[in-house]
Order: sequence, then structure tokens, then C-alpha cells
Amino acid sequence: MIFNNQKQYQLFDYWSNNERPFFRKIALLVSALGPITKGHCLRVAVIADWIAVAFNLTFEQRKELFILSLVHDIGKSDLKNPIVKKLAEAGRSVQFNKDELAIMRKHVIDGYEILKACRINKNNILNGVLNHHERYNDPERPGYPNKLQGNEISFYARLLTLADVLEARTSILRQYRSRISIEEAIEDFCNRKGKKYDPAMAKVAYELFNEKLKYESNEGILNEIGVLADEIDKLLSQRF
Ligand SMILES: [Fe+2]
Ligand SMILES: [Fe+2]
Repeated sequence: MIFNNQKQYQLFDYWSNNERPFFRKIALLVSALGPITKGHCLRVAVIADWIAVAFNLTFEQRKELFILSLVHDIGKSDLKNPIVKKLAEAGRSVQFNKDELAIMRKHVIDGYEILKACRINKNNILNGVLNHHERYNDPERPGYPNKLQGNEISFYARLLTLADVLEARTSILRQYRSRISIEEAIEDFCNRKGKKYDPAMAKVAYELFNEKLKYESNEGILNEIGVLADEIDKLLSQRF
């Protein structure tokens, strides 16, 4: 293992001693997700934090990004719309029709509203949830919900997008579109930097995973992500 994953536990040691009620709320929200979406969010949190460390974010910034990653798809829980959870859980094995796609796309707004209702008033987290499907500069296929561009998209959302896409495209649970390797996923970072992704962030993520791939196999890295995600899950349910 070339990266010090112990660093991730610093985050939990911090929350064990600080902001406990706030973090308990986050743990409760994560527990409202169905198993497939929850697994996705936990793995995205692992990947996002790796990118955050490679991007030299401060501890404060890593905390925000980590929480954002855990709850970014909370709009796919049944806290707002019971249909969306069913769709989200089936989402890797079925193609959506137009109406279902519209419901799924609404998860960013629903997520924002759920967090507001839970009085999670941190702007970086709220905007991150709202903006995580926007595209950096892709006028032909703009993102949603607001077709934002460039720095109009929040900093955290731009970083989260990389981890979100990497997880979604390499996930073992991916069935309805073919699953790809980490190498292919980061190739996409390279090809679409400046278009779908913030170029500076895409470059850092590309280099990070390229470096990892020199020492570990594709499956090895995915396993590592899975093991860390399981540990985060245990910490969330046991400590909070
Ligand atoms: Fe999402
Ligand atoms: Fe996601």
C-alpha cells in the first residue's frame, strides 16, 4: 500500500471528539440509503479523500468533502420520494425511461432539501449536493439541475464529480452498462478535462491513479477501496 490510509482515520478520530451530534446526523442519513447507494457513497468517500490528499486540501476541507461524499446521493433515499429509492437500487440493472430519468435527476434538489430540513446548513455541503451532476464546460451536454459552468460549480462538487464517476464506472455492481477498469476511467478524466471535469482536478486524479496503478493491480485498488468503505460503514454504525 503506497498511500497512508491511516490518514482517513484521523477524520473519524476528529469526529469522535468533536462535532459529535452533527456527525451522528450524517451517520443517520447514510443509514437511510439503500444498500447499493450506500455502498456507492462510502466508496466515493474513500476515493474523494484520496484525491483530496493528492490535491493538498487542508484537514478542514477534507472534512467537508468527506461528509459531502457520504451524503451526496441522499436524494436517492426514501426520505423525500419513496419511488426514487426503488429506482436507485435497481439503477444498475435497468435502463430508465424518460419519466424515471426525470425522477432520478431530481435527486440533487431532493438531497439539498433533505439536508436543509435536517438543519445541515454548511454551504459547501449543500452546494456540493446540488452541483454534483453539473459539467465543467460542456455546452452540448450541460449538467443538471442548473446547467452551471466552470467556477459557477462549487469547488467541492467539482472534486466530488471525479470520485463519483470513477466509482460508478468501475463498480462491481455495474450491470446495465459495461464496467470499465480504473485505467479506462482515468483516461476519460484526461480526455474530458476542461469539458466535463475541472482540468486541474482531473489532472491530479489522473496522476494519482496512474501512480497507484504502478504498484497495485486494478482489482487490488478496487478491493482496497471496498475494504476501506466497509471499515467506514462499521465506524459509522458503531461509533455514532
Ligand atoms: Fe448523484
Ligand atoms: Fe453518486
